[in-house]
Amino acid sequence: MDDLEDLLGAGAYGYFAGGAGDELTLRANETSWSDVRLAPKVLVDVGERDLSVELLGRRRAHPLVVAPMAYQRHAHEDAERGTAQAAAATGSTFVLSSQTTTAPRDVAEVAGPDRWFQLYVFKDRQVSLDLVAEARESGYEALVLTVDFPVAGWRERDKRTGFSVTHPIALNPGGTPLTTEQIFAMHDPTLTWDDVHAFAEAAGMPLLLKGILRPDDAERAVDVGAAGVIVSNHGGRQLDTVLTGAEALPPVVDAVAGRAAVLVDGGIRRGWDVAKALCLGADAALVGRPVLWGLARDGRAGAQAVLEQLVAELDSTLALLGCPRAADLDLSFLA
Ligand code: FNR
Ligand code: LAC
Repeated sequence: MDDLEDLLGAGAYGYFAGGAGDELTLRANETSWSDVRLAPKVLVDVGERDLSVELLGRRRAHPLVVAPMAYQRHAHEDAERGTAQAAAATGSTFVLSSQTTTAPRDVAEVAGPDRWFQLYVFKDRQVSLDLVAEARESGYEALVLTVDFPVAGWRERDKRTGFSVTHPIALNPGGTPLTTEQIFAMHDPTLTWDDVHAFAEAAGMPLLLKGILRPDDAERAVDVGAAGVIVSNHGGRQLDTVLTGAEALPPVVDAVAGRAAVLVDGGIRRGWDVAKALCLGADAALVGRPVLWGLARDGRAGAQAVLEQLVAELDSTLALLGCPRAADLDLSFLA
């Protein structure tokens, strides 16, 4: 990865790659998927495979979702448009971060129909409401409200490098260089369940809550009308030593009991990790950093190559696992 650091500079690289505290959760995210063992069935006709899944009432080509990630122009000039195009070309659902360095309407021009908008609620709530309005007007299909970021995690790499965002974002349209610490101080730490309803109303589109790790919170999300929950520890970037997506997923799936979609992320690096997530009851899986590294390396084409490989790996997994349909993956395929 050292060459990526050369490519991006220590500040952007550390921001993208890094996690909170000792980065124990960052590492555990990957190992908790590799620790899950697959148990293939033999002599199953896998001559034709079907990777498609149903998500929010719509059939998708496969269960891969590109996670919302901030400041993509610091990875490559293709930025969020490049990632959105890569997602569209591979049938992946794309989630645009509200910390985007490209306006939601400009991303919508090149994105596929499977595009969602991620929302942070800022102290200046009007900035958030304006973003929601723009997302609605530009045809985003769902709103992903991230609820695990009342304040930023304890990120020592950023403290060391003092990484500054130098491209305009909704919070800082003038593009005056701001450290992530300065930007994250604009997040609203007072957000509670009582506020969720207002943002759901303003959105006028299905709402997903991202950053759920507990079954009681998942239950509450369903009660407030969420169409889905995203089981996530934010890629190990918020509180270090929390449980991983793979660990948190089964109890959340039980609590939700089919009343809403359940997605998961954190440390998904291979198609077989995606299959494991579905075996554990997820409807889809989000992938973050691998797509960002593809973008950094070769813009839109690089992000697309990463997604193509993940889809091909999932296809290979279905064949070798003796489960030709992704929608049929279940606990019976785990040891
Ligand atoms: C993120 N993530 C994130 N999440 C979110 O809801 N809004 C955001 O703006 C961002 N920004 C962001 C930037 C960077 C550089 C990273 C790496 C992550 C979290 C992201 O959506 C997702 O939860 C994790 O990245 C998934 O873990 P992996 O696949 O990166 O291990
Ligand atoms: C991050 C934010 C912006 O993890 O989600 O850096």
